[in-house]
Parts: sequence; C-alpha cells; structure tokens
Amino acid sequence: MGLFEAFLVRRGVIEPLAAVEVLETVCQQRPRLGQLALRERLLSVGEVCDVLERQVESRLPFGAIAVDLGYLTAGELGGLLQLQQRTGPRGAELLCSRGLLDDGSLRKLEAQYTSDLGSQYAGEPQDADVTDLLAAQGLSLLLARARGVTPFAPAVASALAHANAASFDPESVAREIAKDRRLWPRLEYLARAPWFAGMTCRLGCGHEGGAVALFAELGKERTRELLYALTFADVFDRGTERESLTAHAVAIAAIAHTLAGWSKLVEPTLLGVAGLWHDVGRLLFCRSAELDRAALGSDEEEFPTSSHLIERMRFGFDHAVLGELALRLWGFPGEVASLVGLHHYHRPPVGLAAKSRIALGLLEAADLFEHGFAARDSSQFGRLEGLWSRFALAEALPLTRVRAEWRQLRDARTAALDAFEEYRVIAAPRPVASAG
Ligand SMILES: [Fe+2]
Ligand SMILES: [Fe+2]
Repeated sequence: MGLFEAFLVRRGVIEPLAAVEVLETVCQQRPRLGQLALRERLLSVGEVCDVLERQVESRLPFGAIAVDLGYLTAGELGGLLQLQQRTGPRGAELLCSRGLLDDGSLRKLEAQYTSDLGSQYAGEPQDADVTDLLAAQGLSLLLARARGVTPFAPAVASALAHANAASFDPESVAREIAKDRRLWPRLEYLARAPWFAGMTCRLGCGHEGGAVALFAELGKERTRELLYALTFADVFDRGTERESLTAHAVAIAAIAHTLAGWSKLVEPTLLGVAGLWHDVGRLLFCRSAELDRAALGSDEEEFPTSSHLIERMRFGFDHAVLGELALRLWGFPGEVASLVGLHHYHRPPVGLAAKSRIALGLLEAADLFEHGFAARDSSQFGRLEGLWSRFALAEALPLTRVRAEWRQLRDARTAALDAFEEYRVIAAPRPVASAG
C-alpha cells in the first residue's frame, strides 16, 4: 500500500475524510512534475507535451509515462519526486498545522510506519519512498469518486443504521428491509449461502416475521455482515468486469469461511465478508475514468498474484489501500476495512493483535488457494509453509490438517460459485409484464 495517511486512518489517529482532504490539498499545492523536469533540464518542452498528450489517453502518472517513453530514467524520476516532495507540502505537516497531530506523536507514528512498510514487501522496501510520492494524486482522485457514492441501497442503508445502534432491535431492521420488496428473497438466499454459514432457521416465510426471526437468530454482528454481503452482490455483480472479479471474491469468501471455521478462532462470517470485499479496490480501479487499470494489461495476466506490486509501480498505490479507504469512507467496520487494506502484506505488521493476525493469514491463504484452484496449478500450494510460519498460523490451524482436507476447500469453492449463479437468477430484475 504505502501511504502514511492511510496508515494513520487504520490506527484510528485521523478520520478517513481527513486523510482524503489532506491528500487533495497535497496534490493541489504540489509543483507539477513536468515543470520541475523542465526547470532541471531533464525534459524538453516537446517531451513534456508528448507525455501530457499520452496522459489524456492513459491517465497514468506523468512520471510513469515519461519513463515508459524513455524520456526519464527511473533514477531521474526518483530524483524529481524527491524534489517535488521537498518543495511541496507534506501530508503530515498539514495534519500538524490543522491540529490533528502533534510533533511528538508524529515522530513516533513515522517510526511505526517505517516498520509497517517493512511488513508489506518480501524484500527490502527500497521503492517505498518513490511509491509514497507517486501515490497521492491518483489515490485522491479515486477516493473523491468513492466519497461521492454510497454502495448501499436506501433500505439497506437505513437497516444498517438500525443494526449499528447501541441496542440491537431485529424488528426495526426487518421493518426497513420490508420497505423494499425485492430485498427479502435475496437476503434469505444469501443467509443460506455456503460462505454465510448455510443458515436454515425459519426461512421461507417471505414476510416480516421471517426477517425478524432471522435477524434475531443472527444477532447484531452477523445481521450487519449479511447486509454487507447483500451490498457486495449489488456493487460487484454488474458491468463487464463482473464475471472475473465477482467469482474471485465469492470463491475466496467460501475458502476463507471454511478455513476460519476450522480454526475456531476467527468468526467465519466476518472472514467470509472480508473475502467478498477484499478486492473492492480493483473494482474501483476498473470503473475509474481517471486511471486506466487496463494499462496494466498483460503484466497482470502474466503475474496474477503480483497485481498489487504492478499497481504500486505504475500508480504508486495498490488496490488494497484504495479498497480499505473506500470501505472506511462508506462506514464499514474497521475490522473488515483493515483486513482489506492488509491483504497483500508479506508478513503481519508489528503490533497486530493475535486474532487479527490469524484472520489476515487465513485470508491470504484463501487467496493463495483460489489462485491455485482457478489456474489448476497446485505449485501455488508450495507457498503455504512460508505463509503459515510468517503469520504463526499453526497455533490456530495445523497445516497438516489443511493439507489433508484441502479438497473440502475446493468443494466449498465450487458450491459457493454454483450458489451464486442461482442467486443471480433470484436477484435479476423481473421483466415487466406488458398489457397485451
Ligand atoms: Fe488483492
Ligand atoms: Fe484477490
């Protein structure tokens, strides 16, 4: 990921909105890279125009295009980005000047952030500085867009507001759901889905009484999770990219749900919901008019498990940090948002609580299994041992058990994908009967 502001949000130091505003201010006040390159005589006016022209089409960062065209070397770009940082405002300084941080805690947090960066990469994080500098502009554009939309259908948003209230009242949640007739059959189906624990309680009533009974049995947390699952289906399952991204998410949710169930330490529905939403940043990339994620093209097809690294090189940030900040802006629970933000970390960041570490490790394991199943490539499973030791997963779930029972993960995945196909039929808008 690689953004100090996003790190501060995860730590609860600042609100997500404050991070977005700071990123926007940094972008507005920062000198343009093209101007600096001209001043430093690294680019000619013609070359700057060339890059700007390309930028209109591809929406990639200026520096990335200039390097692609061979006008700048990676080293020259690094130098320019550092110059840009020295001459423009820093996010942390803006936060201090707004009274959101003081010097003492800033120094402490910066030290923690440096250690956090070390957890993200398998090797040395030499590219971290450049990554940070590239990131602000593209990220603030995409977050501005995420901020302008709400992923929740109106009745779901009101139901969530009730579910989030201090005292949980299943009746008021059910009352909100009843306001949209199409919601109940979909919720009922999702409650039965393999990645939602296969609820069988008093379903099929098809009226408010059935909903009250279901929400009462689920309790506050799982009712909220069910509403997030419903919203996942609304948000992901439309548009051209739906097939691959939706199937990937559903498969990971099913595998993660199963692994969490085996561990007995992590709540399966929580991990299932984190699995559903883990790649929402990729979806936002795909739907963005500002950044053309298709520009990642063949690189991404060739190295599917490294897509986050390719994004960091091209855009300066990856879909994990984008997804985490978007979820926080939309009011998702911090636990789910953190799992999404950390889901490509090579090792758990220092200080992560044991339960969150296990949850994160299992989510990453689900990703690894899914890539193996989808590509029919069992060589991926050779990476399990390293993952198990980095995240100390053996205390929650022995790898020997996973190795012995991995076929159940494959079956859970298949069942979830089949069930989602059926769900699509239920959720599809019915054709309006014509009069004659
Ligand atoms: Fe991802
Ligand atoms: Fe993924």
